[in-house]
Amino acid sequence: MEYMGAPQAAAPLGNVLVVGSGGREHALAWRLSQSPRAGTVHVAPGNGGTENSVPIGAGDAEGLAAFARENECLTVVGPEAPLAAGIADRFAAAGLPLVGPTAAAARIESSKSWSKEFMQRHGIPTARHESFDDAGEAAAHARRLGGPVVVKADGLAAGKGVTVCGGPDEAEAEVRRMMGGGVGRVLLEERLEGAEASFIALCDGETAVPMAASQDHKRAGDGDTGPNTGGMGACSPAPHVDEGMARRIQDEVIEPALAGLRAEGAPFCGFLYAGVMIGAGGRLDVLEFNARMGDPECQAIMARADFDLLAYVEAAAAGTLGEMAPMRWDARHAACVVLASRGYPGSHATGEEIAGIGEDGGGSVVFHAGTRREGPRVLTAGGRVLGVTALGGTLREAVGAAYARAGRISWPSKYCRSDIGRAGIAAA
Ligand code: AMP
Ligand code: GLY
Repeated sequence: MEYMGAPQAAAPLGNVLVVGSGGREHALAWRLSQSPRAGTVHVAPGNGGTENSVPIGAGDAEGLAAFARENECLTVVGPEAPLAAGIADRFAAAGLPLVGPTAAAARIESSKSWSKEFMQRHGIPTARHESFDDAGEAAAHARRLGGPVVVKADGLAAGKGVTVCGGPDEAEAEVRRMMGGGVGRVLLEERLEGAEASFIALCDGETAVPMAASQDHKRAGDGDTGPNTGGMGACSPAPHVDEGMARRIQDEVIEPALAGLRAEGAPFCGFLYAGVMIGAGGRLDVLEFNARMGDPECQAIMARADFDLLAYVEAAAAGTLGEMAPMRWDARHAACVVLASRGYPGSHATGEEIAGIGEDGGGSVVFHAGTRREGPRVLTAGGRVLGVTALGGTLREAVGAAYARAGRISWPSKYCRSDIGRAGIAAA
């Protein structure tokens, strides 16, 4: 899985600072460091798998800016929280190059109610919804709707603020649970049926370069049961996104969103992520926008990236993506199986030693997420621990290779879904 681009002898080497500590950031740093022109790719704060980890937290914009200036880095931001808190605004004020949207543009993710209204203003298809600041009114509305409904917390919740409810009783309980737990505003949304896909484009404010489509597995348990998580596995390409559907998502979702943000004075630079539902009869709806790469989608996408990623992120920061050729993708399938600690997304053990992680990859790559090193040992340090990623000629082969590698890795509370890619294999 090495990218073998032709070296561009004359250009100076570029240092990069990737902000974040998950599997997404490990995968970004891994692919960026394979650029022929990559200098040092730092990751702050990084994890037990990242090289060149820098002990500065993702929330410490001042510390990150000082590091980026001193080390002449282009900064690429992984997670949503620093973006929502304005790291891009801070870097822009200091004249430091960064790939990631301003706080105003990141509202497309950080406020679900703002995002839904934005979609309505710009004719982007999405499920009908209402937002409520009062639990009683929300519950009454759920009763009026009668049927299945989706309850969402307004604000960032790391993929865990959404519950798909069968009927009004469940919806009311969920509204009360969220609002009792400090959520100020909830959205009630029509429940959509269909196949989900993640569609991510790299943007420079004007131009959106689409990346390969992918599919996440959001629920904790096999057969899409259990609570929503940050994502338990991913594959790319996405089973239901052929060329025609990719074109439609680019034209009906990504382009209007980018143009809408620009028209509203918040041009979007960075990875714009549309989570879509593809329904019967070609119905296409946006479930959510994110202002960043997906995790674990990024791991599967990076495994297939057959181009110089550094050149593209530099162009995104410089506003010259319009001059770049389309990205090139490995024709094979990629699958990423997330190994988590039992209990995730709820409470779970940490500090357990991971065995079998160091052995030869054989065509797969293990991206670290919640890990840390203690001397020669690698310990668990979070809910999602590793993203075992493999390529294969078919989705079945990619999934088989990822599970084979995952099976050789162990720790006491290791847990993973056993059906990553199964729906996609059935649909093929
Ligand atoms: P979100 O964070 O809004 O993408 O929601 C997380 C997950 O909840 C999505 O990936 C879907 O699986 C599910 N979901 C969200 N909204 C809906 C909806 N309107 N209908 C059906 N499922 C939904
Ligand atoms: N895997 C879903 C997300 O990153 O939001």
